[in-house]
Amino acid sequence: MNDHSQSSLLITKIALIVALGGFLMGFDASVISGVIKFIELEFALTKIQIGWAVSSLSLVATFAMLVSGPLSDRFGRKPVLKVAALLFLISAIASAFASSYTMLVAARMLGGLGVGAALIIAPMYIAEMSPAKIRGRMVSMNQLNIVIGISVAFFSNYLILQWSQENTGWISSLGIDQHNWRWMLGVEAIPALFYLIFLYIVPESPRWLVMQGRQSEAKAILQTLQPNNDAEADIADIENSLKDVSGAKANKLSELFNSKMKLVMIVGISIAVLQQITGINAVFFYAPMIFEQSGIGTDAAFMQAVAVGLVNLVFTFVAIYLIDKLGRRQLLVYGVSGIVLAMLSLSHGFYSARYQITQQDLVHLSDEVKTPQLMAAVDKAFDGELAYKAGLREILGNDLYQANESSILKAGIKMNQTQVLVSILAFVACFAFSLGPVMWVLFSELFPNYIRGLAISFVGLVNSGVSFGVQFIFPWELATIGSAATFFIFGVFAAVGLLIILKYLPETKGKSLEELEHILVK
Ligand code: BGC
Repeated sequence: MNDHSQSSLLITKIALIVALGGFLMGFDASVISGVIKFIELEFALTKIQIGWAVSSLSLVATFAMLVSGPLSDRFGRKPVLKVAALLFLISAIASAFASSYTMLVAARMLGGLGVGAALIIAPMYIAEMSPAKIRGRMVSMNQLNIVIGISVAFFSNYLILQWSQENTGWISSLGIDQHNWRWMLGVEAIPALFYLIFLYIVPESPRWLVMQGRQSEAKAILQTLQPNNDAEADIADIENSLKDVSGAKANKLSELFNSKMKLVMIVGISIAVLQQITGINAVFFYAPMIFEQSGIGTDAAFMQAVAVGLVNLVFTFVAIYLIDKLGRRQLLVYGVSGIVLAMLSLSHGFYSARYQITQQDLVHLSDEVKTPQLMAAVDKAFDGELAYKAGLREILGNDLYQANESSILKAGIKMNQTQVLVSILAFVACFAFSLGPVMWVLFSELFPNYIRGLAISFVGLVNSGVSFGVQFIFPWELATIGSAATFFIFGVFAAVGLLIILKYLPETKGKSLEELEHILVK
């Protein structure tokens, strides 16, 4: 093997280890979806408490983003990630042994601190370690790992659930049958422990070392990572980019809004907002609920959610393959255009649906729902989704309606369900080869060396805050303005984002971080 491929291999190995942070983040955020139904019973939770059990993690992660960037500028990228790994570990064990709802939420919030830190430090650290030519691909490893983490959590939940229903010896001796949700949460301790151990063998970021005046350590690392490059020249480049900037200035928030940072901040903030406001986490965390709106029933909705995860994974690979070839800008332009079309098609699918329960549709309904009032409404045509839901709620009463919503939708909706499925899969595919990975790559390369940690914290915070807002408002939106309008709005946001990308986004592929700094920060 020549020097060049040996060094690529080494950097890939480091990127994979660091990107385990993304895996833990994806796993941690989505594992709760399988736990909800069991903790609801065990701790007798209200819906508000369930909502908090799910979303509290995102809220804490938002806060963690604010502090972890500056902490990593001060103490280094590696120590902050080690603390994150430790938090994931403690959180997994503490939530598995939680004796009350409060303890469970507190344990989840500890994990949220790890999520926020891993989410922004891992891609930055990988970018600072990688040669320009493969930087996009290396940073995308993080997104790939997030996506794998999400899928593995779903699968692990499913597996533990299956085991808990069997009565084999080892299953009951481990208590999996009695405590399935505790196992679902607890297994995360294993990857967290590996992460912590592996972090001891990766080197510190050479760019951060130069910032600390530790040139000789930085040089040794650069020589191992890129033996064909002139390490002295690389270090001189980094030093140059740090010149004229005093340490105090580097940690001032106001420095981010300095006029020379205008372009990179416009791009960073726009992409941070755009990645979430086009609805990705509404689709991820509520996928079965969305599919139920098309009237296919619960089981099929669950199956289709699995398809969403797989498409996400496959198209993340497409991005990794293309990002250093086509570049960031082209991927975003194609992907976001696709998102506009997919959302409009999804909206159209719901808009053109007809709502009416005919005689034949009654087979979908259980006997308790077939009240005399409902039978009197057979063949009545409703004027759209909201009128149908409100009408049926009035006919059946709130409780009966709520308990049977899925079958009621299945009975009364006449729509093109394939259009809904295909539009959602197309949306996820377009996200996965564009906004998903490209945002993290851009975050890691747009900002100048001296303030990268703080800048990434800031845009990460914007991203996470919008994500929280969209997740929080989505169920209300569906119920209040309906599916067609909800998805139409996502489509409009995507169209606005496309215009911003076309106007402002520079291409960043193939240039060193210092060259980019020279071009973008005037
Ligand atoms: C986003 C997450 C999202 C994930 C889905 C990430 O880039 O930041 O919010 O859940 O992609 O693949």
